[in-house]
Amino acid sequence: MSAPASLRVELGARSYDILVGSGLLARAGGLLAPVIRQKRAIIVSDENVAKLHLATLRAGLDAAGIAHQSIILPPGESTKGFAHFAKLVEDILALGIERGTPLIALGGGVIGDLTGFAAATLLRGIDYVQVPTTLLSQVDSSVGGKTAIDSAHGKNLIGAFHQPVRVIADIDTLATLPRRELLAGYAEVVKYGFIRDRAFFDWLETAGPKLVEGDADLRRDAVLKSCAAKAAVVAVDERETGERQLLNFGHTFGHALEAETGFCDTLLHGEAVALGMRLAFDLSAQLGLCPAASAARVRRHYAAVGLPARLDQIANARRFAPADLLRHMSRDKKVRDGKITLILAREIGDAFIARDIERGTLEAFLAAETAPAASARPS
Ligand SMILES: NC(=O)c1ccc[n+]([C@@H]2O[C@H](COP(=O)([O-])OP(=O)(O)OC[C@H]3O[C@@H](n4cnc5c(N)ncnc54)[C@H](O)[C@@H]3O)[C@@H](O)[C@H]2O)c1
Repeated sequence: MSAPASLRVELGARSYDILVGSGLLARAGGLLAPVIRQKRAIIVSDENVAKLHLATLRAGLDAAGIAHQSIILPPGESTKGFAHFAKLVEDILALGIERGTPLIALGGGVIGDLTGFAAATLLRGIDYVQVPTTLLSQVDSSVGGKTAIDSAHGKNLIGAFHQPVRVIADIDTLATLPRRELLAGYAEVVKYGFIRDRAFFDWLETAGPKLVEGDADLRRDAVLKSCAAKAAVVAVDERETGERQLLNFGHTFGHALEAETGFCDTLLHGEAVALGMRLAFDLSAQLGLCPAASAARVRRHYAAVGLPARLDQIANARRFAPADLLRHMSRDKKVRDGKITLILAREIGDAFIARDIERGTLEAFLAAETAPAASARPS
């Protein structure tokens, strides 16, 4: 059995390793032993993931003599709300934890964000480990320490920066992930190419379709490359005051679409990000900031892997009204002095923070994108 590849997130006393490889759940006890302070852990997971992967993780902990208890929550974004958070922390306290008792988040971004926030607040902060099982959580949400729950006022509005003590990304777990979820995670993979790494995008143009189809080696390489990109950004800007904002490429448009579709299965977060990134490239091209040929290349890649590129590809979605989208974009956490901040691109691999986009320009762009004729455009 080969050793997992290891990457370090350099954050001084809060530094930690990301381990990526195959068969890691079964070896989790040995992989966690060096970083946990007690031979006991509490696993938090959701029903879907628990059915498929909890037994392997438990056996892996047993093998290293690590005692464990599990709390299983319903799947889905609504689990990231106050009600489930309150019950989760009370259930954990009822199990009798100490400061040295780590939590293990086994699941996608929902479980990771919720468990991370529970760890940030329980006893004023306890350790936790991320064991991400979706592509999105392996390449994005498990790294960087952003933890949160949702409020009635919006997603991720109540949270904390709290870094995990280790991330264990077992590529094998992706084999059970529904294709649509895998593709949504792929949007975050290709994002790293779009923002800073043109060579990675070049590689994905060939590797992407095979990776989506199931090639485990390519998946491992893509997860490693994505985690390295995220780790590098987090190391220089842990609290998202500068460079880390680039990771929000496509997210301002994406959040507006998610808000309009009600943050549900109609539009997955990664699908919204994919659409948002495509919009960002086309807006950049329209403003003369980026070659139109590069925006077209983005569209071609989406078609090759199966990512949605047009707003009318969102199932059951009514026509979006530009004013509604703009209203959501104005409420974004990145709004400064009333101005919408967008991440735009000069080229594939060269994204930048744009704070001076006129509202009128944006409204006209969104009007064209939401017009029925937009769907007739070649992808
Ligand atoms: N903290 C961050 O930096 C950050 C970054 C991006 C996204 N997020 C958050 O992540 C969340 C989305 O994460 P997600 O896309 O992983 O969604 P998710 O956690 O809801 O998982 C998606 C679905 O896949 C199922 N699933 C998970 N792993 C599986 C597996 N291996 N096999 C079969 N089914 C599996 C889950 O039960 C769920 O139904 C959002 O709440 C978003 O806000 C956080």
